Amino acid sequence: MSIVGDPGGHRHQGEAATRMLNQLGLYHDRWPVATVPADLVAPGPLAPAVADGILAHFQGPLDALSQARGYRSRDVIRLAPDTPDIEALLANFQRAHRHTEDEVRFVVAGEGIFVVTVAGERYEVLVTAGDVLAVPAGTRHWFTLTDSRSITAVRLFGDPAGWVALYEDDPVPAGART
Ligand SMILES: [Fe+2]
Repeated sequence: MSIVGDPGGHRHQGEAATRMLNQLGLYHDRWPVATVPADLVAPGPLAPAVADGILAHFQGPLDALSQARGYRSRDVIRLAPDTPDIEALLANFQRAHRHTEDEVRFVVAGEGIFVVTVAGERYEVLVTAGDVLAVPAGTRHWFTLTDSRSITAVRLFGDPAGWVALYEDDPVPAGART
């Protein structure tokens, strides 16, 4: 379930979170994850067969979302405390940036935090297993993990060849995510 923290320090959950995200221009949905086979979300490196299994398990909703919103490719990522260079990866994720297309994540397991700026205001979006979130093209944002340092997510792309981060000269200070 996502939790949205607004600029006033209030937290919004459940349908209120979805409503707020939609008002900010972010797509949000919830997909059932209770029936995911345990071996697909077990800790450990993401084997190709596991990634394929995740994509196959969710092929129906992934296809529907892709058709509705113009996403043409997908993959699976997993970050964990034992991911090589996890701290360096996180440091990079925590640099504010934009993309020329949507940044789309379906969280299969674990959790993460997107910090987005809309109309000059900062919102924090905690996404957990089952959350589908699309940060629109051009929206300033950055991403980090929670203290669990663990997420498995499907990424959807309109044009993976063109998916580059346009960084700003304002790296987020360490510890600034709360
Ligand atoms: Fe991004």
